[in-house]
Amino acid sequence: MKEFNLNTLVRKNILSLQPYTSFRDNSEFKAPVLLDANECPFGEFNRYPDSTQKKLKSKLADLKKVTPSQIALGNGSDELIDLIIKIFCEPKKDTILMMNPSFAMYAFYAAVNENEVVKLNLDENFEIVKGDFLKITQERDIKVFFLCSPNNPTGNSVQDIEFFIRNFDGIVVIDEAYIEFSENRSAIELLDKYPNLIVLQTFSKAWGTAGARVGAAYASKEIIRFINTVKAPYNVNSLSQELILNLLDDKDRLKNNVESILQERTWLEQEFKNMECIIKIFPTDANFFLIKVNNAQTVYQKMLDKEILTSQRSPAIQDCIRINVGSREENKKLINVLKAIAS
Ligand SMILES: Cc1ncc(COP(=O)(O)O)c(C=O)c1O
Repeated sequence: MKEFNLNTLVRKNILSLQPYTSFRDNSEFKAPVLLDANECPFGEFNRYPDSTQKKLKSKLADLKKVTPSQIALGNGSDELIDLIIKIFCEPKKDTILMMNPSFAMYAFYAAVNENEVVKLNLDENFEIVKGDFLKITQERDIKVFFLCSPNNPTGNSVQDIEFFIRNFDGIVVIDEAYIEFSENRSAIELLDKYPNLIVLQTFSKAWGTAGARVGAAYASKEIIRFINTVKAPYNVNSLSQELILNLLDDKDRLKNNVESILQERTWLEQEFKNMECIIKIFPTDANFFLIKVNNAQTVYQKMLDKEILTSQRSPAIQDCIRINVGSREENKKLINVLKAIAS
């Protein structure tokens, strides 16, 4: 890895931008008369949210053992993916790298921002081939590498993550949307070691609040400053900030969610093993399974006919369907339908 210089990676027009600052959010008044933001004086949610998300970041910082200045919050981690591409990739010029198969939104936001996508094909066990990674990154000038672990839609975790951070001259984004379901440690603990690292996490999966749309980026305070600069000032609304603040106080909530989902995952795997139409169950560290079936399109359609929605991955991943672990009731319905299909 070359010597790291953040300012040579950030787009020039963004380097000179100043973050939006709300005077109100950066002051310590006790009972101010708020006539500064053209709001309505009546109603419960009449005020703009805290643009700095101070309380939420302070609590998250304690939980994740980082400083609040190392956290940026987004309208889901989706928004953060978009912002990261915007900060580092010049439209029509710069390129991102992603695993293939992996989460589709990296390519989507790259397309929105007019950036090329290079795909790093995974091997038959959905692992990254290190030699391929080194070859591509030596041959191509790539700004941002999105490394998803556990990976969606394959479910497995990437091994030896530090290798990819160490051997890359751009920004490495480790997307940990499903980390709570895995036994692996978060890459957040590597932040002090690698200035080119951004870790994404979300409240949409294990925390169970996809509807609130809150995701977090953890990185150096210099990178976070750029994310805070380009984000819409009020990107996380008051209701969601409040909801997540309360959630963080409910210490058992995450633990219970994860325990239940892991129990259900084990139960489903056992049921899948007895199913003749399932040829392969790929190992998973997430809250979903990728399974290989005979006649994926037919199986998928038959489940759909019974109002069971799954994610058809064929033809991109031949004969494969991605199935979310649900509640016991939902999982039983799924298994009953699969049994009926098999017979
Ligand atoms: C790998 C990965 N990253 C990010 C997201 C987006 O999550 P959020 O709800 O925080 O936008 C998803 C959602 O499916 C995902 O699978």
